[in-house]
Amino acid sequence: MHARSDAVPLSGGRPATGSRQILTLSRGHGRAWLGRLARCIGLGAWLLVLGPAAGAAPFEDSMAQRMLACTGCHGKDGRAEGNVYFPRIAGKPAGYLFNQLRNFRDGRRSYALMTGMVTVLSDDYLREIAQHFSALELPYPPPAASNLSVQSARVAQALIEQGDPQRRLAACTACHGAALTGVLPHVPGLLGLPRDYINAQLGAWKTGQRHAGAPDCMAQVARSLTVDEVAAISSWLAAQALPANTHAVAAGALDAQGARARPACGSAPELAGPSR
Ligand code: HEC
Ligand code: HEC
Repeated sequence: MHARSDAVPLSGGRPATGSRQILTLSRGHGRAWLGRLARCIGLGAWLLVLGPAAGAAPFEDSMAQRMLACTGCHGKDGRAEGNVYFPRIAGKPAGYLFNQLRNFRDGRRSYALMTGMVTVLSDDYLREIAQHFSALELPYPPPAASNLSVQSARVAQALIEQGDPQRRLAACTACHGAALTGVLPHVPGLLGLPRDYINAQLGAWKTGQRHAGAPDCMAQVARSLTVDEVAAISSWLAAQALPANTHAVAAGALDAQGARARPACGSAPELAGPSR
């Protein structure tokens, strides 16, 4: 193998059995990657990356082990908890996660630390990572407390469940599923996410910092909302309890009429329905 003898590659292959184990994302890129990460976030990142080595037990080369570097931000097994910024990744549709990992790598989303994590990884490996997190069945955090007035909550809920025909805005439920738990395989659910994260994503689409495959339907949605509406929608979503079935639904479960009312989404061809 090409990695340093004291490094454990995250991309597979047999781990070295040196006394000091350093997690790296990819064989042969350990030093470059660690250097970049350290420059970005300093000591915190070193602790994050080196943490698992403390008192190292025999190393088990599983995907869960290789993904420990993600858990400092995304929470244990990717189930980010508490109302902080980091998005949960566990249990999201695999096609969606794969698209996002590629988006960070290829510059359609910008968050330097995430780009640094995935920049040297191949599509095949990103697909494996996506499948790993997608398959995790973990409990969701309790909903956040809502700070919305009754009036703002009403406006948010109406936009989410009905859209606004006057500005040709489709309901969020038309694409994210009636229970907002997402649609397989490319559309994420909108519940169980931190308010600030949702707010920032809609803002990033509005300002052109986040992109999805063209046509970018979410850019269209975000741009037709006001900043106040985005804030109200984010708070409303973060304050909802998850339904009993938290799983993304099959595209066939979407309202058939909805297919005509929805704008097309390049990153989620399943939304077009079988007839388009
Ligand atoms: C230094 C903290 C940090 C680490 C470490 C990290 N992430 Fe992230 N990740 C973030 C942040 C912050 C975002 C949201 C960025 C934004 O605003 O778009 C994110 C976003 C994501 C998303 C998109 C989620 C969504 O719902 O769209 C995926 C997928 C993801 N990360 C996977 C990973 C994986 C896999 C790893 C480990 C290889 C990892 N992350 C390590 C901070 C981190
Ligand atoms: C026409 C279909 C469509 C409509 C309508 C729609 N969405 Fe989306 N949404 C998508 C798709 C597709 C994605 C995945 C985009 C990607 O691949 O980056 C997405 C992604 C998102 C994300 C990113 C989630 C994450 O984990 O980062 C948020 C937040 C979001 N939508 C919120 C909304 C809200 C709020 C509404 C209603 C006001 C809405 N969407 C309406 C199709 C839609």
